[in-house]
Amino acid sequence: MAHPVEEAREFRDYLAIIGRMYDLGWDERNGGNVSYLLSEETIEKYLDGGKKIIRRIPLPMEADPIMKGRVILCTGTGKFFRNVPRYPSECVGIFRIADNLKEVELLYGFDNNACFTSEIYAHLMCHATRLKKDPENRVILHTHPTNLIALSQIHSADDRELTVDLWRMMTECVVVFPDGIGVLPWMVCGTDEIGRATAKKMEEHRLVLWSIHGIYGAGPSLDDAFGLVETAEKAAEIYLKVLPYKLKNIMTDEDIKAVAKRFDLTPFPGYLS
Ligand code: 13P
Ligand code: ZN
Repeated sequence: MAHPVEEAREFRDYLAIIGRMYDLGWDERNGGNVSYLLSEETIEKYLDGGKKIIRRIPLPMEADPIMKGRVILCTGTGKFFRNVPRYPSECVGIFRIADNLKEVELLYGFDNNACFTSEIYAHLMCHATRLKKDPENRVILHTHPTNLIALSQIHSADDRELTVDLWRMMTECVVVFPDGIGVLPWMVCGTDEIGRATAKKMEEHRLVLWSIHGIYGAGPSLDDAFGLVETAEKAAEIYLKVLPYKLKNIMTDEDIKAVAKRFDLTPFPGYLS
């Protein structure tokens, strides 16, 4: 019998976004992972207030105290995105960060002894960083979009240069990600080190590109985090499309500033001349 939480709107929206990400070709096999802080309402209404703990899973790190008691819907390690919407209780789990910050209390899913993503370091550290900046932040979304991965192999791994080049690709880019994109050089994934480096970049940027791997997006809702990534991915696609040609029409720094002014936004300080 299906668990009641599978009826919750937050849960259904989560599965829908994962299905969409797979359909876009961003999440081959088990590529990507998404974590979503559930609302009190969902926990009370569909998880019986989180009273029933299925099992405890140790964390490979100690979580930041700001994460204590947070209830997180998260993909499981090695789970194929293609299967997530059809077999959610096998592919995703809902867990609470225990008071000791060293383990999680499983409330739903991760059937057959499944476990949270191997990128748990980056997810928990990025949540903590973003929550300190914006208490409304609820989503950390990691995915492998084709054009951004291609771009990371031909572009400098410089936050300012990459951000401004993508702002120039489409008028609305600066409106969607005025705080720009942080870029990490290639690093081994699934480690404390890459988690820390990503969270550090997230102090200033809601998008962090992992060279030759993928991207992280953060936001107060699934739509926001997904929207950031899809806009950056589209800008990367345009960049690659125009790359072979001599450009005759270019958005200048002044043009980008004018768009930001119209939408009452401040582009990342110092990025435009
Ligand atoms: P997981 O299957 O452990 O979530 O890893 C996928 C991934 O994208 C690693 O960066
Ligand atoms: Zn990945």
